[in-house]
Amino acid sequence: MVHNLITNQASAREYSLSSAVDGIAPPDDFLGFGLGLRTDHFQDVLATKPNIDWFEVVSENFMVDGGKPKHYLHAIRELYPMVMHGVSLSIGSTDPLNMQYLRQLKVLVNELQPQWISDHLCWTGVNQTNSHDLLPLPYNDEALNHVCDRVDQVQNFLGRPILLENLSSYITYKESEMSEWDFFNNVARRSGCNILLDINNIYVSARNHEFDPQDYLEGIDKDKVKQFHLAGHTDYGNYVIDTHDHPVADPVWALYKQALQRFGWVSTMIERDDNIPPLAELLAEVETARNIAYDTLGQLERVKQREVVT
Ligand SMILES: [Fe+2]
Repeated sequence: MVHNLITNQASAREYSLSSAVDGIAPPDDFLGFGLGLRTDHFQDVLATKPNIDWFEVVSENFMVDGGKPKHYLHAIRELYPMVMHGVSLSIGSTDPLNMQYLRQLKVLVNELQPQWISDHLCWTGVNQTNSHDLLPLPYNDEALNHVCDRVDQVQNFLGRPILLENLSSYITYKESEMSEWDFFNNVARRSGCNILLDINNIYVSARNHEFDPQDYLEGIDKDKVKQFHLAGHTDYGNYVIDTHDHPVADPVWALYKQALQRFGWVSTMIERDDNIPPLAELLAEVETARNIAYDTLGQLERVKQREVVT
């Protein structure tokens, strides 16, 4: 089984998924194992053309005309598939959608032709005031109707479904009437959007709010998850902060393995936003993710074969 999306664009690399474990085929939209593209690595990526399947770019960093970053971005896009990840959609806010932002986003989409576009299931401000933070929503019907209506508007404007990502959160609302995963499923089912599951964010929220992260994984609709994020956090003992400035922690790798067991092959990437190390360090983390996925899904296949035999 060779993945078309990868082999179509991977002339600079010789990687294919042909060695994936027989019997558990990746879905057609599976991109493989990628990395969040950061400006620190532009030159390294172009010089070394690392053996990696795809890059995710932060949309807001490139929503300007011209300039050196755009030049690098287009050069890298020539070599690799890309997805776009935004932080400013504020899909849950009661402010009107920012149409100027959406128009700029659409221009970048037309330039990069990403495999998909994502943002967060959150709000970032109200009354035109930006908190510069990703804030959780109350999980009730009123918020659900509101978010679904806005996702509809965004998807109609962009002409394609979007992905929404789960936050790490530090507060909950007494107005919530359902779990985060039920709310997320309802948004995805009703609006037709898909889900970007951040495994680290599930771990961080589970620690902070004292729920079982396995309940989250089991609760999410299987066919809606199109991408995983893996990132680092800072553990303060009584609470955990989603700092994205460390390597992926062991409990998050363990949760990733459980996520693979539930969701199968899902495009996975390493997301580092601060304390950016040399490219090679992040590529090693991507390889760890790849190895865990092959190992986990291979073991599942072996278990399946044993069940058939006995
Ligand atoms: Fe994330």
